[in-house]
Amino acid sequence: MPGLTTMLVAVLPWASSPVPPMKLCSGKRTASAMPLAAKKRSASSANHQGRGRALTAATATAPASCHDDDQRPRLQTLELLRFLEEDGWVEDQMLSLLTPVDEAWQPADLLPTFAVAAEEQRAQVAELQARAAGVPDELLVCLVGNMITEEGLPTYMTMGNRIGPAEGVTDATGRDGHGWARWLRGWTAEENRHGDLLNRYLYLCGRVDMRQVERTVHHLLRRGMSMTEPSCPYHASIYGAFQERATFVSHAHTARRAALHGDACLAKLCGVIAGDEKRHEVAYTRVVARSFEADPDGVVRALAAVMRAKVTMPGERMTDGRDDSLFDHFSAVAQRAGVYTAADYGDMVEHFVRTWRVAGLQGLSGEGRRAQDYVCGLPRKIRRMEELAHDRAAQKEAQSVSISWVFDRPVRLH
Ligand SMILES: [Fe+2]
Ligand SMILES: [Fe+2]
Repeated sequence: MPGLTTMLVAVLPWASSPVPPMKLCSGKRTASAMPLAAKKRSASSANHQGRGRALTAATATAPASCHDDDQRPRLQTLELLRFLEEDGWVEDQMLSLLTPVDEAWQPADLLPTFAVAAEEQRAQVAELQARAAGVPDELLVCLVGNMITEEGLPTYMTMGNRIGPAEGVTDATGRDGHGWARWLRGWTAEENRHGDLLNRYLYLCGRVDMRQVERTVHHLLRRGMSMTEPSCPYHASIYGAFQERATFVSHAHTARRAALHGDACLAKLCGVIAGDEKRHEVAYTRVVARSFEADPDGVVRALAAVMRAKVTMPGERMTDGRDDSLFDHFSAVAQRAGVYTAADYGDMVEHFVRTWRVAGLQGLSGEGRRAQDYVCGLPRKIRRMEELAHDRAAQKEAQSVSISWVFDRPVRLH
């Protein structure tokens, strides 16, 4: 997860976007799941509208909601989650995206092994350090920021288990057998490898002040994350889709830049993490797509609300105990390094508008049409604002800041 959409708050203060987290997705599991998706849709999509109407009636008096008008989403959170799990949909469309443990990569696969003689161990570490020597500080700062965000996983798992406080939706026992509980634990298990892998690489490369990095993780976990309270059943999955894609983009860009600087090891490990994030993005994208089938008006209004809201990022509260603007500095470095930029955010909004076929939605309410127009016009607005921000940045004098993660060496902000 953990993502960087959040960075736009610093880069483009007006830009509201969802949170934090690329692959060389094998595509194998995704591909195998697609026929199931198609099959399931053909079997049940004809019922979605009717079911949506029935649920509307059933929940018409329920308190809600996500909007500041009198429109209500058709589905309340619990009904949405239960609706999505009907006919084994979560199993077919989400759990099938998780990699079985026996087939999954582990951090030990990608780092020096200690199952060899001492001399060979030293040679492998020396090779890793020699390659890492060519990685610029700005890329290291991006890597550390991404790693710290990944290490906030205990917070994110807790948040994930708060979305649907009811039997069959939360993992009440910690070993529940229903789909959502299995997804949350499976997703967490995959995410847990991301922080481990980046953390061990950074420790072995010898280029960063690990104590400062560890202090930042410690602070972040103690401080938690401030996230806009989801006020609509569709917010969490929309947020999740953006978050996972943002992380995918960020890790993939880091991989590409690491390769350009001659560190094939770093490129590979960022690439496999990106692959995980891509599969997670697919999962949440499917949830939103299925929600659109059931309640297009409610979901497009929720999408507009998420885009308009000031969304705080998972790592936004990070500090090393010295720099109160550490997250802003990390975001500015990532923008300048091209690891995650305002233009990436515009591309992402455009991607989801196209994927969810927002422009073609029919039968919307007045509020729904306004939300549709707003969302469809957003990529163009973001690009225009990004150009203006770029022009302003070009006129500024170069500015650097000392970052403790890299032993207080100065790193360019712009
Ligand atoms: Fe992820
Ligand atoms: Fe991750």
